[in-house]
Amino acid sequence: MTTRILTGIKPTGRPHLGNFVGMIQPTLQLIKDTAKEGEAYVFIANYHALNQDKDAAQIRKNTYEVVATFLALGLDPEKVNFYKQSDVPEITELTSILSNVTPKGLMNRSHAYKAQRDRNEELGKELDDGVNMGLFNYPILMAADILMFDTNIVPVGKDQIQHVEFARDIAGSFNHIYGEVLTLPEFRIKEDAATVPGLDGRKMSKSYNNTIPVFEDPKAMRKAVMRIVTDSKLPEEPKDPDNTIFQLYKEVEKDSAKVKAMYDGFVNGGLGYGDAKKMLADSLDDMLAEPRKKFEELMANKKYLDEVMQMGAQKVRKQAMKKISKVRRKVGLD
Ligand code: ADP
Ligand code: TRP
Repeated sequence: MTTRILTGIKPTGRPHLGNFVGMIQPTLQLIKDTAKEGEAYVFIANYHALNQDKDAAQIRKNTYEVVATFLALGLDPEKVNFYKQSDVPEITELTSILSNVTPKGLMNRSHAYKAQRDRNEELGKELDDGVNMGLFNYPILMAADILMFDTNIVPVGKDQIQHVEFARDIAGSFNHIYGEVLTLPEFRIKEDAATVPGLDGRKMSKSYNNTIPVFEDPKAMRKAVMRIVTDSKLPEEPKDPDNTIFQLYKEVEKDSAKVKAMYDGFVNGGLGYGDAKKMLADSLDDMLAEPRKKFEELMANKKYLDEVMQMGAQKVRKQAMKKISKVRRKVGLD
């Protein structure tokens, strides 16, 4: 039996090292590891971007950047179904149908929605202030993305686990009523790098403005690395290796002896944060030099990027039409 792998990313900013370590790299690795028995779907979740981003030009630009990022890092569009969510309008139809088997209480528990309410409470605002229905319904749209293609495995960062569990719940409710139509997905997270910290030590996120973009120019990237916040321990003092510099280093440095050297330098003392940052910046340079060139070439050829997206849409849309017609029959629309 084939294993279907599917994941998406919103075009809400330039992909950063958190995205790279938490999702992009593990997804590309999983695709490689399952090349024989697997089928992969990677898409740009642009409907999902609309609830937070109202700048059309920005969304378009970020879409190209995300597409070029995946291609530059090795995604092969001939082998992977690589598409824009909005090129598959059947997904919104499925969302609409699934909303009828989704309890409102489930959506009330959504972390993203609850986080917004908590912020409002702290600020003494009306609890639903700034919450649009796109945010509230976000998990149903994400369930439709996943369930449309009978996905088995969803590689994501830790913050997305709940969404995949919701997709399972929603599929379960649907199947309970209409029979076994939808496949129950499982999430897959990378064990030891669940959340990459940003420059300020909080989760690296576009929303916190604390990111290091994957294809930042080398000088700016080095500067960003030098800005990573640390404590004020002296070079000779022993340090907790569970710090931002080492967490990133162990993800990007392929030479395990070098990784061990940094680890030992921190644990035993002797390695200062400044030197460790230089090591990290060097590794990033090495790892990204080739892909960066490719990224720049791709960004200069938008026509090609459009073609890649169109090719992907053509492939998956046929499958989506088949699935939606099955669902329509099951629920009594056809
Ligand atoms: P952001 O929080 O910057 O808006 P997204 O929500 O677009 O990022 O996340 C895209 C993917 O990257 C998701 O699978 C998410 O879990 C993963 N991801 C985002 N930030 C991090 C991080 N700091 N560490 C690990 N994974 C992350
Ligand atoms: N919600 C995901 C994020 O913020 C993006 C996403 C949308 C997604 N649909 C998906 C991820 C389906 C995996 C599967 O990162």
